[in-house]
Amino acid sequence: MLAQAQTYPTKSITLVVPFAAGGPTDVVARALGASMSKTLGQGVVVENKTGAGGTLASGYVAKAAPDGYTFLIHHNGMATAPGLYRKLAFNPLTDFEYVGQVVDVPMTLLARKDLPPKTPQELIAYVKAQGNKLTLAHAGLGAVSQLCGMLFQKMVATDLTTIPYQGTAPALNALLGGQVDILCDQTTQTLQHIKAGSVKLYGVTTHERLKSLPDTPTLDESGLKGFEVKVWHGVYAPKGTPPAVVEKFGNALRAALKDPAIVQRMAELGADIVPEAKQTPEGLRSWLKPEIDKWGALIRSAGQYAD
Ligand code: MLT
Repeated sequence: MLAQAQTYPTKSITLVVPFAAGGPTDVVARALGASMSKTLGQGVVVENKTGAGGTLASGYVAKAAPDGYTFLIHHNGMATAPGLYRKLAFNPLTDFEYVGQVVDVPMTLLARKDLPPKTPQELIAYVKAQGNKLTLAHAGLGAVSQLCGMLFQKMVATDLTTIPYQGTAPALNALLGGQVDILCDQTTQTLQHIKAGSVKLYGVTTHERLKSLPDTPTLDESGLKGFEVKVWHGVYAPKGTPPAVVEKFGNALRAALKDPAIVQRMAELGADIVPEAKQTPEGLRSWLKPEIDKWGALIRSAGQYAD
């Protein structure tokens, strides 16, 4: 086993992304993978395995060979899945080795460019008046866009017509094309479109305003008191992956999070690299259980379930 860890990796490593190429998770994964490839001397290749709000990818990696050549990057969806799905092909607490957390990303509430409301308050009134004539795009049950959209509907006490996509890359394309009305999505994908004026921005989902969008109100300060969604990302390996291999991969990940090119890229995307203590296996393990409990309670109160 030691010899294996010393020579590891001898071929390229797959980093599974649970959502569509070009979207928020994919953008972070590809940036980190490119930097890690330099440290590891082998390619870290992104594979997009979409479907069922990220749970197909998690199930796939849980059952992959624990040889250090398959990893998963996933967000809050790892913690919401047990609340959302009665039948789940994996257990987030027992089926993985934990590598560490990577970045936290705020979300933005957007609409197609020509939606009439001009302010968040006008949007809330408009949504209440229009109800399910309006469409809300998301990336499936378990996606943070779905979670954010669910919170929005709950707080505005109005059900919209929801339209699932394989990721928010196609969802945002639909918004840009005017085929859907509203989307809640991460700054890693939305900042460039907000700056270009090709979407309408109503608010940010964090408790504080963002450095990257200082003039944009939070949803909390715009009448949706207590509205908060922050996206966190963790990296996982199949249970049984040798500790020395997890450590070597994790060291390359932590080196990537210090790489000046990554630091600059993440800042441009509005993503916050997490403190070093969170970048460790323990930093992810100790974070996950309370998150599962927190979201489970919220999901049950909202009555959201899939089979
Ligand atoms: C993506 O990468 O497409 C998003 O993270 C999906 C989501 O909204 O969770």
